[in-house]
This record gives sequence, structure tokens and C-alpha cells, in this order.
Amino acid sequence: MALELGVLLSGRGSNLAAILDAIQEGTLDATVKVVASNKSTAAGLARATERGIPTVFIDPKLFAQEEHPREAYDVAVGNVLKEHRVECVALAGYMRIVTPALIRMFPSQMVNIHPSLLPAFPGLDAQRQVLEWGAKVSGCSVHFVTEGVDEGPIICQKAVVIAEGDTVETLSARILEHEHQLYPRALQLLAQKRLQIEGRIVRVLP
Ligand code: GAR
Repeated sequence: MALELGVLLSGRGSNLAAILDAIQEGTLDATVKVVASNKSTAAGLARATERGIPTVFIDPKLFAQEEHPREAYDVAVGNVLKEHRVECVALAGYMRIVTPALIRMFPSQMVNIHPSLLPAFPGLDAQRQVLEWGAKVSGCSVHFVTEGVDEGPIICQKAVVIAEGDTVETLSARILEHEHQLYPRALQLLAQKRLQIEGRIVRVLP
């Protein structure tokens, strides 16, 4: 059966578009049940709407008065995903740290794409960090989401060589092209139930 995906994003949504293209082309056996965002203006929400996918904006401000605002927010997000019968959650440019409250609702069923070769350069502005560090190779990683930011078991990665004169923009664009290939491929492995987590190691079953 097709993997029932929920996508969380905060911005442009080009990875969402790549996922939807792969589904349309038949290389990813999934359906995107809902796209949710913490930003009402995220272009990714408009992209989803154009393609007939339900979207939800969940406003973090509504939870500011809660005793544990981040957890309360995440429970609300999880409930929305569950209402839409989501089985697996893909973070695609979701610029919020996900709390255990949400991770617990989708055990071993939440993945993220990050624009560096983890564990190097986790967190925000990875491409800028890479250039400022003077690294010669970077890339992108798809990993399971765990409590530590960008620390979960790695599913797959693609290396990108840094060119002389690269800027944040040129490097990001080159990495992004690979993200668009890598993310649907990782999700297809999940759809085929071919990923087995053993501690930090993700084994890809034949
Ligand atoms: C992508 O480069 C993704 O790897 C990155 O945000 C961009 C989203 O682009 N994610 C992170 O940095 C997460 N820490 P998109 O909205 O066009 O898919």
C-alpha cells in the first residue's frame, strides 16, 4: 500500500515538489495526505494547494500562553497529521525544532532532509557554516528524526564538492538538486519497508 505521508515545511517547498513529482512519475509509492506549516506565507503551502493537497497553517502564537508552548504546539501538529491519516512525516525545510511530544506520535516514522553531510554542520544555515569553515566537500543527508537536532540515524547521503568561489547561493543550489533526487529515493525505501534501524545504523534491506 502507498505510504501515507504528511509534509511539514516552513518555506519554498521545492523538496515537496520533488516528492510530488516522484509520486506522479511512479518512482515513489506514496500519497501526500496533508502539508502543514508554521508559516502562513510559506510558498510550499501554495504549491500544495495548486496540486490539490490539503494544507494547514498552525499558528505558533496560539500556543504562547501554554505552560509548555513548544510541546503544546507539537501535539496540535501531530493531531492534525493523525486526523489526515498520516503514517509517516517528512520534514522538508521545516525550520522548527521538533520536540519529543511530536516524535513520540510517529515512532521511527519521521524523517528530515538536511543540507550538509551530517554529523558535520547541523542546525541552521548549514551551507554558510560549510563555507565559513572552509570545508572542501559537503552535501545532503536524509535521516530519521530523534530528539537531538539533526542527530538521528542516517538513511542516505550525497556528497557535493565545493567549488572555488562558491557562495551560499551557488552551493545551496547545487546541493538542492541532489536533495530533490535523494529525498524521494529515501522515502521510497521507507515505503517499501526496507529500512531497519539498529541503534545508530540504518540497514537497507534488499
Ligand atoms: C532545503 O535545502 C533543506 O535541506 C533545508 O531547507 C531547504 C528547504 O528548501 N532544510 C534545513 O536546513 C533543515 N535544517 P525547500 O523549501 O525548497 O524544500
